Amino acid sequence: MRGEVRIGMVGAGWMCGAHVSAITNAAGVYGEGIGTPVLEVVADTNEQAAETAQRKFGFATHSSDWKRVVESDRVDLVDIVTPNAYHYEIAKAAMVNGKNVYCEKPLTLTAEESNELAEIASKRDLVNYVAYNNVVNPAVAYIKELVDSGKLGTPVRFDGTYDQDMLLDPSIPITWRHKKAEAGCGALGDLGSHLLSVSQYLMGDLSEVAAVSRIAIPERPVAAGAATLGTVETEDVLAFVGRFISGAIAQISTSRIATGRKNALTVEIQGTLGTATFDLERLNEVNVYFHDDDPADRGFRTVLMGPEHGDFGMFQPASGINISYNDMKVIEAAKVLSAVTNGSEYVCDFAFGARVDATIRAILRSAESKQWVAV
Ligand SMILES: NC(=O)c1ccc[n+]([C@@H]2O[C@H](COP(=O)([O-])OP(=O)(O)OC[C@H]3O[C@@H](n4cnc5c(N)ncnc54)[C@H](O)[C@@H]3O)[C@@H](O)[C@H]2O)c1
Repeated sequence: MRGEVRIGMVGAGWMCGAHVSAITNAAGVYGEGIGTPVLEVVADTNEQAAETAQRKFGFATHSSDWKRVVESDRVDLVDIVTPNAYHYEIAKAAMVNGKNVYCEKPLTLTAEESNELAEIASKRDLVNYVAYNNVVNPAVAYIKELVDSGKLGTPVRFDGTYDQDMLLDPSIPITWRHKKAEAGCGALGDLGSHLLSVSQYLMGDLSEVAAVSRIAIPERPVAAGAATLGTVETEDVLAFVGRFISGAIAQISTSRIATGRKNALTVEIQGTLGTATFDLERLNEVNVYFHDDDPADRGFRTVLMGPEHGDFGMFQPASGINISYNDMKVIEAAKVLSAVTNGSEYVCDFAFGARVDATIRAILRSAESKQWVAV
């Protein structure tokens, strides 16, 4: 049996549960070679939330102070699932104390902060994983193979959306997601950053962008059921066009008030020889079209994901037996644990997170200045 990986979680909200479930399932799916996770401590500024998480998930202890986690000599891996603005300070303190770090996205609020974190991680040889879980999706692995093998020819255009209607109802109260100081931005950070991670993984980095954004619901109740309204500071809807360094054109949009769209991260890559499309609401399917098919047979075909694609085979032995969002988190958690235990390589390191953060800043600057901005 490999050694223990002792986990210190910071944040006890939605993603705390998702990470605990993924981390604890990962060893069952991938085997004990990735290490044995031990839930050591969970911290949240809301002590009640930390205490509830300790009981519900079986952490050994809890705290209301994240410093207890990053300074603990009983923690090997600090897992950060707080609102975006706190990632930088917590990740930096964790690494200065010699801890490996697994951090939710977006990594920080600026590329400078993210680059600084990447540099500390590299100097100290620590695991530094940013949780862009769509990058490890088997469907995305398949599209990456189509692009890298040249089966699509030269990619000419990338179209993408990431739309949800989770915040469509104006009676949903203000949270950190609506505040610039805590979130950095709105739909772009929450959803669009996932799409950027996928686009930059598949197509390389963007060189320039021109964006527009809108706050469609400018006020919301300050708490559930409250009559008093507070100001929404972050965008509900954002769209941009851009150019990749490769020369390919990008057309990307995101909305958290997209009526009827539940989790629509869609991708279309058009190449000189073929096109691939994907929709996260149908995450076990990729549609492909190959121009060199016999003209009589040309048309989009649906490829069901299976063991030939990425890590799908860790879950199911045959295609068509669907995997889920939670399984993507299991793949991610397994990569984190294996990096700690075996030094395995991974794509989504802090340098990758910094490249996404640089794109986010350029898009926000463009929307504000109404100018093209270089990334
Ligand atoms: N990868 C994904 O699919 C995905 C999905 C949702 C959220 N996220 C990311 O996960 C992070 C957390 O989002 P969430 O939806 O879980 O938020 P949430 O609001 O459900 O939970 C955040 C928790 O952090 C706590 N907190 C706030 N400041 C803190 C601090 N300084 N120290 C300790 N605890 C603190 C809050 O009290 C709250 O319990 C965000 O960065 C978000 O972008 C990622």
